[in-house]
Amino acid sequence: MKKYNLPTRKECLAIIREYHVPLHILKHSLGTAKLGGFLAQKLKEKGIAVDVDLVDRACLLHDIVRICDFKESNYSRFKHPVTEQDKAKWKQLRTRYKEIPHEDVAYELLKEKYPVLAQTIKKHRYTALLNENERPNTWEEKLVYYADKRVMHDRIVPLKERLQEAHERNVPQHGSEAQSQINTAKVDRLIFELEEEIFSKIGLNPLEVTDEFIDSA
Ligand SMILES: [Fe+2]
Repeated sequence: MKKYNLPTRKECLAIIREYHVPLHILKHSLGTAKLGGFLAQKLKEKGIAVDVDLVDRACLLHDIVRICDFKESNYSRFKHPVTEQDKAKWKQLRTRYKEIPHEDVAYELLKEKYPVLAQTIKKHRYTALLNENERPNTWEEKLVYYADKRVMHDRIVPLKERLQEAHERNVPQHGSEAQSQINTAKVDRLIFELEEEIFSKIGLNPLEVTDEFIDSA
């Protein structure tokens, strides 16, 4: 019996439907859960206390309100149809949680029913490693943070590739262009350190852990 409440995978899918999570974000979340769950299991096999279910559920729900960070004009870039109900739900969320980053909105939405899950999700903000109060500390928080940074769209890719791609998309979110470069250089170094911390425990090379590797494991 766990000391805290966690949704089942089925309940996570109901939450995902409730917030009209766009298909490409759902695919990214499933990819993140695949890697996060795999790494959690590996750490557990090495005798490290990790809650594999918590990592799985937090990965599945980490971006439930990522849509809050998008502008309505971005919807046309989505490769799948957007319904009027989707738009209405997203508008409602954006109006209610104006300017609040999606990690914090997810925390607000989930904290009452699932406080530990909410806290684990809150720590996945890219710049969280720079700030003592925001840093992922537990293994579960670290794995959710890391797995997210390895999954580009819905594929597991080398950290370097995913970070480069994300920087090109997200420059305005990290401050001015110049500030963004300082911050991203610092954060990226810390993410590589986190990768080293995780993989030195697991005894695998990060580059060998791909979708195909996990599928055949
Ligand atoms: Fe996110």
